[in-house]
Amino acid sequence: MKAAVYTRYGPPEVVKITEIDKPEPKDNEVLVKVITSTVNRTDSGFRSAQYFVSRFWSGLFRPKNRVLGCEFAGIVEDTGKSVIRFRKGDKIFGFDDNNFGGHAEYLALAENSAIASMPSNATFYDAAPITEGAHYALGNIRAARVEKGSDVMVYGATGAIGSAAVQLLKYFGANVTAVCNTKNVELIKSLGANRVIDYQTEDFTKIDTRFSFIFDAVGKSSFGQCKPLLTKNGVYISTELGKNGENIFLALSTALRNGKRVLFPTPTITQEDILFLRDLFETGAFRPVIDRDYTLDKIVDAYRYVESGQKTGNVVLKIVE
Ligand SMILES: NC(=O)c1ccc[n+]([C@@H]2O[C@H](COP(=O)([O-])OP(=O)(O)OC[C@H]3O[C@@H](n4cnc5c(N)ncnc54)[C@H](OP(=O)(O)O)[C@@H]3O)[C@@H](O)[C@H]2O)c1
Repeated sequence: MKAAVYTRYGPPEVVKITEIDKPEPKDNEVLVKVITSTVNRTDSGFRSAQYFVSRFWSGLFRPKNRVLGCEFAGIVEDTGKSVIRFRKGDKIFGFDDNNFGGHAEYLALAENSAIASMPSNATFYDAAPITEGAHYALGNIRAARVEKGSDVMVYGATGAIGSAAVQLLKYFGANVTAVCNTKNVELIKSLGANRVIDYQTEDFTKIDTRFSFIFDAVGKSSFGQCKPLLTKNGVYISTELGKNGENIFLALSTALRNGKRVLFPTPTITQEDILFLRDLFETGAFRPVIDRDYTLDKIVDAYRYVESGQKTGNVVLKIVE
């Protein structure tokens, strides 16, 4: 089968389109014919090993999983003999950042992993990008224990995580102030934000509202900068480690006292989360924002674009045209 393979850590160019063996599903696995995947910051992080710590999962000296692609949508082509939840021909989607494998024509994964049948109203094109940004957003929102009616801020609302966070926070009943660039103000309003601040024309740190939760979905702010905007026991979360890894240390030190806190939750995903996101898609409460698409042959260009830091929402990878 055709796959985008990387055998060493490095820039987008380490990824090559190659023929490799089609996976054989084990007894508890489904074999999926992948129709769409995405190229996202999780794939980029594992490929570049920019943060050395990722190598403890992906292989210390070289990658142990040679095919990336943590989210996908496709069709079940075969099932292992103990599989009961899925049948040949089912349209499924899901997320796997342990074994990856979506950047290939076929993928095998356990039936109890973070996979589910596709939303009834989704195409393969919209189904692949449902999970990556949204599960990070969901994990952080849950960690912050956001209450209905509370004022929250999403800084960097145009990324995959930020654009999902705005929609999920609205679903949970929060009043959302979103910060983004000029060109995406209307888009972010359309996702339900109550107020949109254009960071190119307004300084978000100067506004009067105080927030119980500030979520920096692009990791460009700091706790010091956002602290004055937090309520007494307000929570700050960033998707990045911050300068000199300060968000880890701040999470530890602020946990020891009352008052404004930094959290640094570990992202997790379960099949229940996938089912939850599927329900939100079916009711229209959540739609992944899609910027553009690339074919598998153009995956290096897709990585370059994702790593420009300029994507709006998600980048779809078409495995089957
Ligand atoms: N290491 C990992 O495994 C991993 C996995 C997932 C995510 N992450 C991190 O999570 C963050 C978000 O990822 P993502 O995929 O959701 O989004 P992303 O692709 O990093 O976000 C791109 C968006 O952020 C906006 N942006 C850039 N600089 C900004 C700034 N200073 N203020 C406000 N907006 C800004 C960009 O638009 P403009 O520049 O035009 O405003 C663009 O629309 C990234 O930092 C990423 O590295 C890491």
